[in-house]
Amino acid sequence: MTTKPSVLRNLPADLDAQRLPNHVAVIMDGNGRWAKGRGMPRFMGHRRGVDTLKELLRCCKDWGIQALTAYAFSTENWGRPLTEVDFLMTLFERILRRELQEMVSEGVQIHFVGDLSALPASLREEIERAVMATRQNQRIQFIVATNYGGRDEILQACRAIATQVKQGHLQPEQITQTLFEQHLYTAGIGDPDLLIRTSGEMRISNFLLWQMAYTELYVTDTLWPEFDRSEFHRALYDYQQRHRRFGRI
Ligand code: IPE
Ligand code: IPE
Ligand code: MG
Repeated sequence: MTTKPSVLRNLPADLDAQRLPNHVAVIMDGNGRWAKGRGMPRFMGHRRGVDTLKELLRCCKDWGIQALTAYAFSTENWGRPLTEVDFLMTLFERILRRELQEMVSEGVQIHFVGDLSALPASLREEIERAVMATRQNQRIQFIVATNYGGRDEILQACRAIATQVKQGHLQPEQITQTLFEQHLYTAGIGDPDLLIRTSGEMRISNFLLWQMAYTELYVTDTLWPEFDRSEFHRALYDYQQRHRRFGRI
């Protein structure tokens, strides 16, 4: 994790720089409905959604937020029509190629969480290239959840740990929360402080099930392509009014 830069660019005056979330997660929902509402095909919504994400990442960086996790594709999203799945895979690949230089120069360290083995080989190559090229960067961690499912993540951690027990390298009593977390896709990344879901759905949709045990939830009716800086400002303001108790009083 980086230290917060001393000068935060354009942080709204009603936000307390000392009480910003370290890590924000977003369920970027509503691209399809946004496009449909304008008489356009769904893919136009996905395309516009990329611009929203880029702007949010820049905003997080300007305001001194240290990590942003974005849900790009769930393990359940394979169930969509093939044309949409193909479009999304190609879009991810193109965006990574197009944005890499800027991410490198802006200090973004990119990570991917999810089962990457099921992704097209050409996308995996772009992912690897982007991760390698940005690994020394320190300004902000940008985590993209791709072919991500919280249940899958927990199961694969269980399998890895069970294998170690079977081989005699680990005793069951040694399986602690800390050890378990080391086997999640998010190993080394802190839990989100704030989850934002757009498009009004009050559900988690298999996102970061373990990691969100104490995350503050914020749902807005705004569709993802329209989630701009002022919407993010509103979410952060709302977050700063909360009292996080973590089970205490
Ligand atoms: C979110 O928007 C993007 C992905 C899941 C990839 P949707 O595509 O789910 O948009 P809606 O929910 O159908 O409007
Ligand atoms: C969640 O959105 C997944 C992503 C944003 C990638 P969905 O649109 O897939 O979720 P449901 O189907 O409404 O739960
Ligand atoms: Mg949706």
